[in-house]
Amino acid sequence: MVEESIQKVKRVYVRRHGRPMHQGRMDALETVFPTVQIPKDILQEDGQLAASEFFDGAAVQKLHFEIGFGNGEHLLYVMRENPHDHFIGAEPYMNGMSAFIKSLPVPTPDNIRVHADDALMVLNSLQDASVDVIYILNPDPWPKSRHHKRRIVSEANLDVYARVLKEGGLMVQTTDVDDLAEWMLTKTINSPYFDWTAEHPADWKTAPNGWMSTRYENKGKEAGRSQTYLLYRRNATAVVAKTSVPAVEMPKIRIY
Ligand SMILES: C[S@@+](CC[C@H](N)C(=O)[O-])C[C@H]1O[C@@H](n2cnc3c(N)ncnc32)[C@H](O)[C@@H]1O
Repeated sequence: MVEESIQKVKRVYVRRHGRPMHQGRMDALETVFPTVQIPKDILQEDGQLAASEFFDGAAVQKLHFEIGFGNGEHLLYVMRENPHDHFIGAEPYMNGMSAFIKSLPVPTPDNIRVHADDALMVLNSLQDASVDVIYILNPDPWPKSRHHKRRIVSEANLDVYARVLKEGGLMVQTTDVDDLAEWMLTKTINSPYFDWTAEHPADWKTAPNGWMSTRYENKGKEAGRSQTYLLYRRNATAVVAKTSVPAVEMPKIRIY
């Protein structure tokens, strides 16, 4: 069932597989995943879908969107902290997806939806000004310059993030790769749509209040790397640039 639902694969430059999955995670993918997965056939990538359409018509006051949630520890944390909000997480790496799905409380909350593919497919589908917070935590650094175009913070993607964020909405970017921090900051402050909230170096060198560090972040710290925290507010500038990023078809793949 899971395999059938992942047949239409678009542009993702990520590992889809890893180590063989434990039975518990496989079971969670078989049973829980279909109940929280965004059906691919509703994604039209034309910016017309209201957030409520992802949640069976429920009223969505506040929507959090995490791009590339890894094992989902941060997403689970913000869900626990904000039980009345709604959450969408995108993660094409099925080992990470299975870890998150397995860690969801029982019964499965109805305020979470996931997408096991490129986050842009969902973001492109969402109506303007639907999202309150976008998290981009430790995105893949793609260190080689010929791969920089794959970085998830790019001019084109920032236009999409700007379109879907509400005015005053928050975008959180973190990384422990200095070159990537500089790249993300430069791209984002050069965008007309975002205001960097930092006033002092401590603002980007210190975790924001109530921050939850992922295992990935902690491993970086143990290895001596320092984490950069970049927070931006969506300002009032109306989006005039291209507001969706065309997806590129890729060959069909198996997820496990
Ligand atoms: C370095 S990991 C960080 C995971 C997690 N955010 C953390 O901090 O622990 C980056 C993650 O982004 C995911 N990713 C990469 N491109 C993506 C895309 N276009 N849409 C959604 N997720 C993506 C990868 O599969 C990977 O799990």
